[in-house]
Amino acid sequence: MNFDLTEEQKAIRDAARDFAETEIAPSAVERDLSAEFPTEIVQKLGELGFMGMMVSPEWDGAGMDTLSYVLAIEEVSKVDASVGVIMSVNNSLVCYGIEKWGSDFLKEKYLKPLASGKLLGAFCLSEPEAGSDATQQKTEAVLEGDHYVLNGMKNWITNGTKANVYLLQAMTDKSKGHKGISTFLVEQDMEGIEIGKKEDKLGIRSSDTCTLGLNNVKVPKENLLGEEGVGFKIAMNTLNGGRIGVAAQALGIAQASLEASIKYSKQRKAFDSTISNLQAIQFKLSEMATIVEAARLLIYRAAACKDEGKNYIKEASMAKLLASQAAVYCALEAIQIHGGYGYVREYLVERYLRDSKITQIYEGTSEIQKLVIARELLKA
Ligand code: CAA
Repeated sequence: MNFDLTEEQKAIRDAARDFAETEIAPSAVERDLSAEFPTEIVQKLGELGFMGMMVSPEWDGAGMDTLSYVLAIEEVSKVDASVGVIMSVNNSLVCYGIEKWGSDFLKEKYLKPLASGKLLGAFCLSEPEAGSDATQQKTEAVLEGDHYVLNGMKNWITNGTKANVYLLQAMTDKSKGHKGISTFLVEQDMEGIEIGKKEDKLGIRSSDTCTLGLNNVKVPKENLLGEEGVGFKIAMNTLNGGRIGVAAQALGIAQASLEASIKYSKQRKAFDSTISNLQAIQFKLSEMATIVEAARLLIYRAAACKDEGKNYIKEASMAKLLASQAAVYCALEAIQIHGGYGYVREYLVERYLRDSKITQIYEGTSEIQKLVIARELLKA
C-alpha cells in the first residue's frame, strides 16, 4: 500500500492550508462568538473549486479524487470546523447525489451551480421522529399531475437557512416502508417552504442549522432524483461518502488539538523546565498522535476504496467512528495540557472540544456506525 501523496494531492492540501490560514483563520474566533455564517468564505471556496471537488469538470466540478477532498476538509477544519461541515455537506451529500442519480436536466440546472459555488446545497433526511431510525420518514410526497405535493418537517439541516437547494427525502408510498421513500430536489424559494429557527449550538457555531417545514410545496415531477422508491438507497449511499467527509473534519480538529498541545507544552514552564519534558505530558502527546495517525489511515483507506469503486460502507463507518473519537479525545487532552488556559477562550482548545462533539452525532451517531460496521462484518 502506497501512503505517499501525489504532487497534485500535495498541491491541493497546500492550497487548502494556505486558504484556511489566510482567509478563514482571521475571523474564526469572532464567528464562533457571533454564530455568523461565513458567506464570503464559502463564495471564495466555490471560486477555488472546493465546493464541488469530486464532481466531473463536465458538470463544472474540479474532478478530483476523494483523498484530495479529505485533505482539503482536514486543512479547513483544522482552522474552522464550521467551514469544514459547510463544504462537506455541499460536496458529499448534495453534489454527489445529483451527479450519481440525477438526470442531465437536473445536473445542468442544479449540479453545475452547486459544484461551482454559485448555489449552496443542504441535505434533508432527519425529522423530529426520524433521526437514527431514518426509515421512519413522515414527510409525504403525493403525485398530482405534473408535480409532487410535499408536506412534513425536516430538522438538523446543515446549511439550512442559507441553502438554495435541498436534497430531500420524502415518503411516496408508505405501504412499502423504506422502499417507499423518494428523493427530491427542492428549492428554498418554492412556495410553502418555511425556514424554522436557527439552532443555537454548542459548537460549529458559524455553520447554519435549522428546521424546515414543508406546507403543500409543489415540486415539479422532473425534480425527482432517480426513481420513486430509491430515496433511502440514495440517502444511505450518499451518507457513506458524507461519513468520510465528517471523519476528515474530525481529523482536522484532532490534528489542531495535537499541534496546539505540542506548541504550548514547549513554551509553558513548570518544575524548572518546559512541560514538554514531563513524562505525564509526553504520554498524552504520544497517545494523541497515535490515535490521530490511526484515524488518518482509516480515512485514507475509505477514500481509496471509494475511488477504486469497492464497497466502502464499513470503511467509511470505521473512519468516522475512530476519527470522531480522536477529535473528542484529543480536544479534551489538549485542554488538560493547557490547564486553566485551556478552559478559557484565550486559547482555541476549548472551541476544539465544543466543535468535536458533533462529529460523534451527525451523519450517523457513533452507535449507528457500530451497527453499520457489525452488519457488514456479519453479512453471509
Ligand atoms: N449503505 C448502503 N445501504 C445501506 C446502508 C449503508 N450505510 N445502511 C443501510 N443500508 C440499506 C440496507 O442494506 C437496507 O437495504 P435493503 O432494504 O435493500 O436490504 C436498507 O438500507 C435498510 O437498512 P436496514 O434494513 O438495515 O434498516 P434499519 O432501519 O435496521 O437500519 C440504519 C438503517 C442503518 C439505522 C439507517 O437508518 C441509518 O444509517 N441511520 C442513521 C441516519 C443518519 O446518518 N442520519 C444523519 C442525517 S444527515 C445529518 O446528520 C445532518 C446534516 O445536515 C449533516
